[in-house]
Amino acid sequence: MHIEWTKVFETGHAEIDREHKAIVDIINRLEDMPEDEYSEDVGDILCQLTEYVIVHFGREEQMMLRVRYPDYDAHMLSHCQFFAHLTRFTYGFETRQTGLSRDIQEYLAGWLVEHEAIEDAAFIRYWLAYGGASAPPD
Ligand SMILES: [Fe+2]
Ligand SMILES: [Fe+2]
Repeated sequence: MHIEWTKVFETGHAEIDREHKAIVDIINRLEDMPEDEYSEDVGDILCQLTEYVIVHFGREEQMMLRVRYPDYDAHMLSHCQFFAHLTRFTYGFETRQTGLSRDIQEYLAGWLVEHEAIEDAAFIRYWLAYGGASAPPD
């Protein structure tokens, strides 16, 4: 399941969009994984995705705090739910669950649309409207 980067995913913030594209690239590496066999590479991709997303979510959370984003709690919850899924997938990898690569791709494809294209886009609209771009750096 190849995820094509389209304008639907664009938030209007160059750095956030660059990181979202990098997340899509990591997810697309799962395409080359065997769907019903155990593969060490799936573990590597889960690791890479977890490391990348920790930094990305941290950046978004700092930006939200700077403009006192009113939906901060809901957005944080959404990030936490994503980590809960990553933990479940990592457990699946460690217990050699079959069909794991397909399950991960299906979940992530849906998450990209719901989270990046809707929730992140809404937060960036607020951030741009309420002075995020002119706020002093950390
Ligand atoms: Fe994001
Ligand atoms: Fe987010």
